Amino acid sequence: MTLAARVVIVGASSGLGRSIGMGLAGRGSRVAFLGRRLDRLQQAAAEAGADAFAMTCDVREGASCATAVELACTELGGADALVYCAGIGPLARLVDTTPEVWRDVLDTNVVGAAVATGAALAHLAVGRGRAVYLSSVSASLTPPWPGLGAYAASKAALDKLIEAWRGEHPEVGFTRVIVGETIGGTGHGATEFVDGWDPELAAELFPNWMQRGYLTGGTVCIDDLVAVVASLLEVDADVPTVVITPRP
Ligand SMILES: NC(=O)c1ccc[n+]([C@@H]2O[C@H](COP(=O)([O-])OP(=O)(O)OC[C@H]3O[C@@H](n4cnc5c(N)ncnc54)[C@H](OP(=O)(O)O)[C@@H]3O)[C@@H](O)[C@H]2O)c1
Repeated sequence: MTLAARVVIVGASSGLGRSIGMGLAGRGSRVAFLGRRLDRLQQAAAEAGADAFAMTCDVREGASCATAVELACTELGGADALVYCAGIGPLARLVDTTPEVWRDVLDTNVVGAAVATGAALAHLAVGRGRAVYLSSVSASLTPPWPGLGAYAASKAALDKLIEAWRGEHPEVGFTRVIVGETIGGTGHGATEFVDGWDPELAAELFPNWMQRGYLTGGTVCIDDLVAVVASLLEVDADVPTVVITPRP
């Protein structure tokens, strides 16, 4: 089994994407770190090693996102894997979720994934490559969490999108990774997912999530998530779905 040599990670400036990028680079992959914050990406690439590089990409901007992913694949000399980690989950009750927020969530979590995949597809197809997407327990294992309705709807759409890609392009391995609560790595490797949340609303909703059993208090160890993604990039088998959640 050989680890994918050339990997494009979209959403690699913080949290899970950054940690996955560092972990894959540490295992010998050449990694392109993509996202909006160039300083963060450059820092990650420098830490990852000489061959890694950074590239700015706002996945909500269709044409420039496609160009960035295409450029990253070309710079790598081809791509064996795309790992799509870009994602946002604004905290708001549905009644307070504006059309602008809906668009932002869907553009980032779904449309961006479609555009990035389309841009990498020809490269991935050359060597039976793989595309991996981070999805959420709240889209498939639990009912949608109150306050995260738009997020759950977007991840459910992402799940269907991945199935649709698989149907049209069997030459590429498409995998969704359903991830339970993960704090991430250290420093910029820590998740920033909740950073913009209204603390009062979060404090109101948190006990409800606990009571419903959606949150257990445990978290997935980032090294475990990295190991799972790395193993996906080593195998040729069809692996439609992987679930990784905290152990009770
Ligand atoms: N942490 C968890 O417990 C958990 C659980 C299940 C699933 N997930 C999923 O894991 C993924 C990563 O989450 P995280 O916890 O690591 O959160 P995070 O620290 O906030 O990371 C999100 C990443 O997405 C990038 N991003 C956001 N908007 C973007 C845009 N418009 N264009 C390009 N990149 C964009 C961010 O980079 P820039 O801001 O620099 O663009 C950042 O690198 C998300 O898809 C999330 O839904 C996380």
